[in-house]
Amino acid sequence: MAGAQGKVYFIGAGPGDPELLTLKGKRLIEEADVVIYADSLVPESIADFANKDAEVHGSKTMALPEIMELMLASVRQGKKVARIQSGDPSIYGAILEQMRILESNEVEYEIVPGVSAAFAAAAVLKTELTVPEVSQTVIMTRAEGRVSMPPREQLRDLAAHGCSLIVFLSVTRMTKVVRELLAAGYPKETPVAVVYRVGWPEEKVIRGDLSDIAAKVRESKITLQALIMVGEAMNPHLRDPLPASEQPQATSHLYSQDYTHLYRRSPSRPDTFGPRIKSGEERVPLPKVPLSDVSGGH
Ligand SMILES: C[S@@+](CC[C@H](N)C(=O)[O-])C[C@H]1O[C@@H](n2cnc3c(N)ncnc32)[C@H](O)[C@@H]1O
Repeated sequence: MAGAQGKVYFIGAGPGDPELLTLKGKRLIEEADVVIYADSLVPESIADFANKDAEVHGSKTMALPEIMELMLASVRQGKKVARIQSGDPSIYGAILEQMRILESNEVEYEIVPGVSAAFAAAAVLKTELTVPEVSQTVIMTRAEGRVSMPPREQLRDLAAHGCSLIVFLSVTRMTKVVRELLAAGYPKETPVAVVYRVGWPEEKVIRGDLSDIAAKVRESKITLQALIMVGEAMNPHLRDPLPASEQPQATSHLYSQDYTHLYRRSPSRPDTFGPRIKSGEERVPLPKVPLSDVSGGH
C-alpha cells in the first residue's frame, strides 16, 4: 500500500500485446492495490499482471463519475491505483478530465507512457513514417464524428500537407475519410493501410490505395479498433532494393558517409566536429558543441 494518501498511475498498456507494455508499467500493475483497466481496448492478459490481492475492475461499463469515485475512495485509503489505458494515454486517452478531478482533490498522480497503436501499426507495416524526401512529418488525427474538430483541423486541411497521416477512431467513416483525402490533393494511388487490432491475435492488415481501400474495408466488415495509415511512406515498395545510382536519395542523413554529427565524423569532412578515434581506440575529447547546433543526428 502507498503512504497516508495513495497515488494514481495512468499506465499506457500499448496496443494489446502484453510484451509491448513497458517494464515500469508492468511493475506498477504488479504493485497496485486497485487496477482499473479499459477492457474495451486493453486485454485481460495485461490486467493479469495484478497481484492476487488486488481489486481488478474493467472500466468499459463504468461511467467517468464511477471510475473517479473508485479512484478517490482508493487513494483515501492509502492505496496505489493503476489506471490502465490503451496505447499511450496522451493520444485520445481522455485523461484530462480524470487529471482535473484528481487535481481538484489534491491527489498525486503520474503518467507512464505506452506504445501507441500508431507506432505498433507502423512496425507491423514495416514502415518508416519519416522517410527522407517522402515525408518528414506525421499527423495523427481523426475524422469528425460525434466529437467535432477544432477549426483549422478539418481532415481536408490537415491532409493538404500530403505527409504521413494516421487516422484514429474513424474506420466506420472510411468513405468520408477517402473523400476528404482526395479532395485535399492526395493522388488516388496514395498507399493506405488499415490495421485492425494491432498486437492482438486477431490482428489484420488491409492494404490498398485511395481508390480501393474503402471497398476493401467494407468487405472486411471491420468497424472498430483500426487505424488508417495514409501516405507514400506506407508504400511497401520503398523497401525494394534500389539501383546503386539512386542510393544517396534514399538514405537518411544519419547514416550517410558524408554526414558529420556529434558521435561520428565524416571522413570527407575531417575538420568538422565529431568523435576523433585514433588508432588503438584512443579518444580525443570532443570540442564542446551545443546540442542545438547538431541537426539530423540521434
Ligand atoms: C480511444 S483511442 C485510444 C488510442 C490509444 N491511446 C493509442 O495511443 O493507441 C482508440 C482508437 O485507437 C486506435 N487503436 C487503439 N488500439 C488499437 C489497436 N490495437 N489496433 C488498431 N487500432 C487501435 C483505433 O483507431 C481506436 O478507435
